[in-house]
Amino acid sequence: MKVIVTGSSGLIGAEAVLHFSSQGHTVYGIDNNLRKFFFGEDGDTTHVLAMLQERAERFVHIDKDIRDREAMLEIVAEVAPDAIIHCAAQPSHDLAARVPFEDFDTNAVGTLNLLEATRRGAPEAVFILMSTNKVYGDGPNRIELTEHPARWDYADPRYVHGIAETFSIDQSLHSLFGASKVAADVMCQEYGRYFGLRTGVFRGGCLTGVNHAAAELHGYLAYIFKAADEGRPYTIYGYKGKQVRDQIHSADVVRAFDLFIAKPRPGEVYNLGGGKANSVSILESIERIEQLLGKRLNYTYSEDNRIGDHVCYYSDLRKLQSHYPDFQITRSIDSIFEEFARATRVAKVA
Ligand SMILES: NC(=O)c1ccc[n+]([C@@H]2O[C@H](COP(=O)([O-])OP(=O)(O)OC[C@H]3O[C@@H](n4cnc5c(N)ncnc54)[C@H](O)[C@@H]3O)[C@@H](O)[C@H]2O)c1
Repeated sequence: MKVIVTGSSGLIGAEAVLHFSSQGHTVYGIDNNLRKFFFGEDGDTTHVLAMLQERAERFVHIDKDIRDREAMLEIVAEVAPDAIIHCAAQPSHDLAARVPFEDFDTNAVGTLNLLEATRRGAPEAVFILMSTNKVYGDGPNRIELTEHPARWDYADPRYVHGIAETFSIDQSLHSLFGASKVAADVMCQEYGRYFGLRTGVFRGGCLTGVNHAAAELHGYLAYIFKAADEGRPYTIYGYKGKQVRDQIHSADVVRAFDLFIAKPRPGEVYNLGGGKANSVSILESIERIEQLLGKRLNYTYSEDNRIGDHVCYYSDLRKLQSHYPDFQITRSIDSIFEEFARATRVAKVA
């Protein structure tokens, strides 16, 4: 099989490259290291590309920008892939307001470029879009909550399993990032429904893994490890530090892609996070990280929450599991923390 992965030097893209290349497929990775432009040195993905070039067989790196329409049309037509896994994005909720053109041009227009390139050049290909839970805007913040010593949780029994795909994406505050991702998300669904392309949309919760070029504005778990280890100051914004996210390891994200590619359901949408079992608050994360590293995080608390930030979010995985019964979370929240701690220790020795 030939697979195109966009954002191939990013967290999810790199995991997809390693996975599909280890299965003997040829993988074409499109990435121009725009993450460095977005997040500065912390976001530089050069080391991830070097790792892929060393470890991934049959991997072809293409240093192109997905905003370059002609280039995308040409690459997809030339490669004629069996699958496209689209992970390139401006991924930060907070940063988007500072770079509105780059955000929309990458997230929305870049996605359109790839969808249209697929329709023209590889109409049989399976097309996967990595979308986000921010398409639901701050709607989840209207759910009644209960306060626990270190976390919030849903009080409303309708959300005992988390947020489902039926949750409204309308009439809420999204951030410019959430809005550009909604455009991509709906466009991808439309190419499935209108043109019959084999598209699938995965709305990510908190995606995590040790290959993240973690920056303060994106990749929070990896970044807290980095901050605790290097003694960098860290600020918690609002909600008493009890805000909850569901962490899913990048390897489990890619397992879901694998199942979809084997049996695509055109135009479908799935929430994809760690679910309730892998949900964790910032305060709980800090406590665990401090225990694992034996270091204190130098943090301060600001009353002001990030605009539109979710207070409590975890994904209802039941739709995905009902369509793909083989899907399960294989990396528990404990194993994710332990992997980060090991990687932090190894990086010190290296
Ligand atoms: N990490 C998370 O917690 C999370 C949560 C929900 C959804 N998502 C979504 O999942 C996808 C992957 O996220 P990630 O964490 O791997 O992001 P990432 O920033 O680690 O990876 C994205 C990659 O895309 C590249 N890129 C960005 N703009 C580009 C452009 N115009 N042309 C070519 N390459 C470009 C970047 O250089 C980077 O390597 C994104 O769509 C993101 O919105 C991520």
